[in-house]
Amino acid sequence: MTASSAPSGAHKQPWTFCLVSNADLQSKIRAAAEKEEFENYNGRMSEEWLEALSPFETDWHKPFLEIAPWLIIVFKKAYDLTDGGKSKNYYVNESVGIATGFLLAAIHHAGLASLTHTPSPMNFLQKILNRPENERAFLLIPVGYPAEKTKVPDLKRKGPEQVIAWYE
Ligand SMILES: Cc1cc2nc3c(=O)[nH]c(=O)nc-3n(C[C@H](O)[C@H](O)[C@H](O)COP(=O)(O)O)c2cc1C
Repeated sequence: MTASSAPSGAHKQPWTFCLVSNADLQSKIRAAAEKEEFENYNGRMSEEWLEALSPFETDWHKPFLEIAPWLIIVFKKAYDLTDGGKSKNYYVNESVGIATGFLLAAIHHAGLASLTHTPSPMNFLQKILNRPENERAFLLIPVGYPAEKTKVPDLKRKGPEQVIAWYE
């Protein structure tokens, strides 16, 4: 409910959070994600992109999609379905991005680990989870406690002088 308390364009709340802990669904999601990611890592991603990812040692294998106790799949509603018609939503990407940020902060605050995962293109999620035509997969978030001996990259954040521009 933290995520759903986020502000949204014209208060349309254009999101659905699918909570998946079903092993059969998780296997299907892993298989479909790995199919896309195999293509991504073997030709669809540019050399520059692969170079940027190399410090993280990721590849097309995504075992965590079956290991994580929960997968949260965030869908954005491109438009709303009304009685026999459609109604517009506004600033959908911004709204769902903010709601997802709230969600990630809440997960972190609860002492859990998560990954912001984008096995692109993600339209297989709409099919596997049988979502209505107005919903598009936005982000796939495995959630759980970190495994023992988990390696976390030692990343340096930009300092305030690099990310803030003051106008006094
Ligand atoms: C929008 C977005 C998409 C991402 N997609 C993936 C992904 O598909 N697979 C993955 O392993 N990590 C993914 N990541 C995780 C980033 O690689 C991760 O955030 C990176 O380790 C940098 O760490 P930091 O965000 O804490 O600085 C994604 C992150 C974001 C914000």
